[in-house]
Amino acid sequence: MASELVIIITEQRNRQRITLPSTKAPYRFGRSPQCDYVLRRNNVGDRQFTLDCKNGEWTLSDDGSDCGTWYNNRYIHAGEVCRLQTGDVIGLNTNDDLETLEITFRVEEINTGVTARDGVRQEAASGAVLREIDIKKKRRVTIGRGEDCDIKLGSDRVSRHHCEVVYKDGHFELNDLGSTNGTYVSGQRVRSRVLQNGDVINVPTQVFAFSGGMLHYHENKTGVSVQLVNVVKTVRDRNTGKPLNIVDGTSLEITPNSFTVLVGGSGTGKSSLLTCITGTAPCTTGSVRFDGLDTKDNRNAFDAVLGYVPQKDIMHDNLTVEQSLTFTAKLRIAHDATRAEISAAVAHAIAAVDLQGREKTLISQLSGGQKKRVSIAMELLASPRLLVLDEPTSGLSPDLDRSMMELCRKLSHENCTVLMVTHNMSNINLCDKIAFLGVGGVLCYYGSPEHLHSYFDVEFTSDIFEKLRKKEEIEFYREKYFTTPEFNRLVAAYPDAAQEAEKRCSQ
Ligand SMILES: Nc1ncnc2c1ncn2[C@@H]1O[C@H](COP(=O)(O)OP(=O)(O)OP(=O)(O)O)[C@@H](O)[C@H]1O
Ligand SMILES: [Mg+2]
Repeated sequence: MASELVIIITEQRNRQRITLPSTKAPYRFGRSPQCDYVLRRNNVGDRQFTLDCKNGEWTLSDDGSDCGTWYNNRYIHAGEVCRLQTGDVIGLNTNDDLETLEITFRVEEINTGVTARDGVRQEAASGAVLREIDIKKKRRVTIGRGEDCDIKLGSDRVSRHHCEVVYKDGHFELNDLGSTNGTYVSGQRVRSRVLQNGDVINVPTQVFAFSGGMLHYHENKTGVSVQLVNVVKTVRDRNTGKPLNIVDGTSLEITPNSFTVLVGGSGTGKSSLLTCITGTAPCTTGSVRFDGLDTKDNRNAFDAVLGYVPQKDIMHDNLTVEQSLTFTAKLRIAHDATRAEISAAVAHAIAAVDLQGREKTLISQLSGGQKKRVSIAMELLASPRLLVLDEPTSGLSPDLDRSMMELCRKLSHENCTVLMVTHNMSNINLCDKIAFLGVGGVLCYYGSPEHLHSYFDVEFTSDIFEKLRKKEEIEFYREKYFTTPEFNRLVAAYPDAAQEAEKRCSQ
């Protein structure tokens, strides 16, 4: 059956839409004039990649050039064939050189004439495996922590028998089985609900898509990705009474299992941006997405994947580390957890923050850094896939700052994406990405620590803080960010993010 592939090609801020009919496939992309789509760029291979269509299925394969082709979140090997789906992003030239242009190709639509199962991606964040369960065939599918469940989830926030989907009288019904932390459909907590095609079901730490009598889900042990698209927070100015933007059009993507540090001078809107992400004080316009899904309509479900460590520690000084964590565990994890499960979760959290040997120590006798580790362990009990920390190192000595940064880095490698606000720049090289804010809540840099100084053309980090107090410098770097590979990659997947760039750059 004939089909066509619609792709959006983004090169810097230029975008074009092309439609490829399957009747003329395959399509070769590369520098050679023999290619069907010629990319006139030095660091693109003569034959870079091929898009083909066989039996109605579109595929991408890398043609083995020296410059890698990336597909969603990873480079593919030469000869590897990936099945394309709507929303997939193919990119070239991610060699981290900010001066080099980057091209992305986003699969906008695949028109096959048959109804495609939308919303379900073949490949998600690295490490995730797509699973499907045919409910009609099994008649009843149970989801929970118990060994006897058809879909067994590891998190302690999931009840032993959490929910079920049954097929009866020609329809599919979702029933919550009295779970502690709830079952949600499109953001609404439900007891029992007849499922419609396209419904999104959330239980703690897991999302399912229902379509065509099938449950689709990513068996997923990775951190979430976060997409901010034109995030604006407007308040009424205390002095003038007029509207004031304290977060001003931020767009960026935090990749799964990365460690990102948010920095900027005092009052530049770091905490405000953080609360837009955690949902404590949601953004006025724009969207905050976890794994590409808007958090606005699904707040409760997204809270389940989020761990937030506020600046001030909230702990009882006269409990031991172990008592305090056990107390939290009983509140946080499913009520049907056994004593053995609770103590295993506590031991695991203590080990994760390197506090072994301090289990019986009173909180009051811990150092500032150790107390902060207990706060982090409390969040880890709920198996967060995104950990957000507001200035965990303020007031700590330089060696403790380093060990906190090392801990965050380690956690980001263990199933969790980490975002941290800090004032201390001395150990900044330990993070993967830095987001730098200028006065007025303007994102002026988002990229690797290695490129920070050359991007701002300075020798010392303190000079950046100095620069980002001046209005014209802030506007210059706001626009410079719109030309970076990080921004272009986001725009390829979320074209709305370009609105602010277009507005600013045409002024
Ligand atoms: N209602 C308001 N009227 C005027 N300014 C406001 C209002 N609410 C917040 N602000 C300003 O918004 C800015 C952002 O505050 P926020 O706490 O997010 O900054 P921050 O970067 O976290 O600062 P710090 O490093 O000091 O923690 C501050 O300059 C604050 O004064
Ligand atoms: Mg703050």
